[in-house]
Amino acid sequence: MLTLGIESTAHTFGVGIVNDKGKILANVKDSYTTEHGGIHPSEAKKHHQNVADKVIHEALIRAKLSLKNIDFITFSQGPGLAPCLLVGMEKAKELCKELKIPLIGVNHCIAHLEIGSLLSKAKDPVLLYASGANTQIIAYDGGKYRIFGETLDQGIGNFLDAFARYMGMGFPGGPKISKLAEKGKDYIELPYVVKGMDVSFGGILTNLKQKFDSKKYSKEDLAFSAQETVFAMLTEVSERAMAHCEKDELVLGGGVACNTRLQQMARIMCKERGARCFVPENQFLVDNGAMIGWLGVLKYKSLKGSTPPLNKIDMKPYERTDDIEVTWR
Ligand code: ATP
Ligand code: FE2
Repeated sequence: MLTLGIESTAHTFGVGIVNDKGKILANVKDSYTTEHGGIHPSEAKKHHQNVADKVIHEALIRAKLSLKNIDFITFSQGPGLAPCLLVGMEKAKELCKELKIPLIGVNHCIAHLEIGSLLSKAKDPVLLYASGANTQIIAYDGGKYRIFGETLDQGIGNFLDAFARYMGMGFPGGPKISKLAEKGKDYIELPYVVKGMDVSFGGILTNLKQKFDSKKYSKEDLAFSAQETVFAMLTEVSERAMAHCEKDELVLGGGVACNTRLQQMARIMCKERGARCFVPENQFLVDNGAMIGWLGVLKYKSLKGSTPPLNKIDMKPYERTDDIEVTWR
């Protein structure tokens, strides 16, 4: 059994081909980037429309398959930017009609978690999900994936992107901040904002902007201090969630988890408490089609043939992780 998974919640149009055993036969993507400034939803939408057929075609070539080998299509239903989600959904429905096969819609955040579990063989992990729009500490409890902690304002990636943009760098800013931080020497005191298991970045961003404008500090030191502060916050709340849920596996997910300093902090924390830390390859941390396909496989199997008709399936731009009925565990 094979599915073709389509991801299009934000800046990335990704296609993954996955079988029912979790073998990933292809994982291809094309992402919208800018030289200066942030992400424009209408521009990202145009980008996705332009690359969709090419990315699907390339994924099929990588997997050495044709569309007629695909048993069902999976798409990322939400949360995400509506104009971007729409491109993925329309493409998915078009393929389903043409091939007369079912469509499965899945939650993007849970897809980040399930691909981490698949690749790491973790049994019951806590997920530190650190991406552009989302920052959540998620764990399975009482039939649902529950959010034990999250950002009270923006996602950590958006925070890094906004700070990079303020310093005149384009999107995505996270990797640029990371490069600068490697050259930072002195730690500059910043607000440290942890409330229980929640975090917030807005005040830190304002403080960083003021420090940048004062011209008293180097970009490198500011980037270094920003990373040290916010990654320590994420590590602290991850540890608190692991202790609270009595779980001893941590899986990282989301684009910001590509950051090697964050990975290092998470590994040290886990080692100190005798827990295991899993960091999937970068291609599975960022938005990707393979994770959508794999969650599609899990959900499809649990439906035992009773897949919904195409006209009953819609995108869900505001769907939350804890709204999802977990039928596959
Ligand atoms: P979601 O819809 O799940 O919120 P997303 O659309 O933000 O995801 P991802 O690909 O998961 O997409 O994450 C993108 C974010 O990751 C961007 O904010 C980018 O700056 C950040 N990022 C990528 N690489 C790094 C890195 N090495 N260090 C820090 N941040 C990074
Ligand atoms: Fe994501």
